[in-house]
Amino acid sequence: MKTSNTQPVTLNINGTSYSLSLEPWVSLLDVLREHLALTGTKKGCDHGQCGACTVLADGKRILSCLTLGVMKDGAQITTIEGLSDGQNLHPLQKAFIEHDAFQCGYCTPGQICSAVGLLQENKAQSREEVQELMSGNLCRCGANRGIIDAVMAVKEGGYHE
Ligand code: FES
Ligand code: FES
Repeated sequence: MKTSNTQPVTLNINGTSYSLSLEPWVSLLDVLREHLALTGTKKGCDHGQCGACTVLADGKRILSCLTLGVMKDGAQITTIEGLSDGQNLHPLQKAFIEHDAFQCGYCTPGQICSAVGLLQENKAQSREEVQELMSGNLCRCGANRGIIDAVMAVKEGGYHE
């Protein structure tokens, strides 16, 4: 519903354009989850400390809990729902399954979106660098070794977006 407090915002999310009326204080995370029912992106801390809410904005990984929806007017947003090609999983999604890289799965959408951004950045060349540059994505289940194994497997497989 449009009220005097809202602003028109257009977001392209996973290839679909959405014309929204957003209050300026609403986070991108709440836009995704509460306005658009894209609940694959998780809310952990809601304070920029866990990485569960990581999505891609114009190809760069961002924390959607620390980003206002109105800040991303006109941006291309990719969430975990947008990574697979129909029934064909993204290489990182397949690698997470193959390497046992999750237990509860709550951190997993953020881990995978962060890993997509990491590989596109092409800054991490070693296992230690992958670990360091993924350190903003916390896993309470202790699946970290599998997560790094999965990212390294895709990296060493020559993945390019
Ligand atoms: S929910 Fe965004 S960093 Fe934790
Ligand atoms: S798989 Fe449970 S928090 Fe990471």
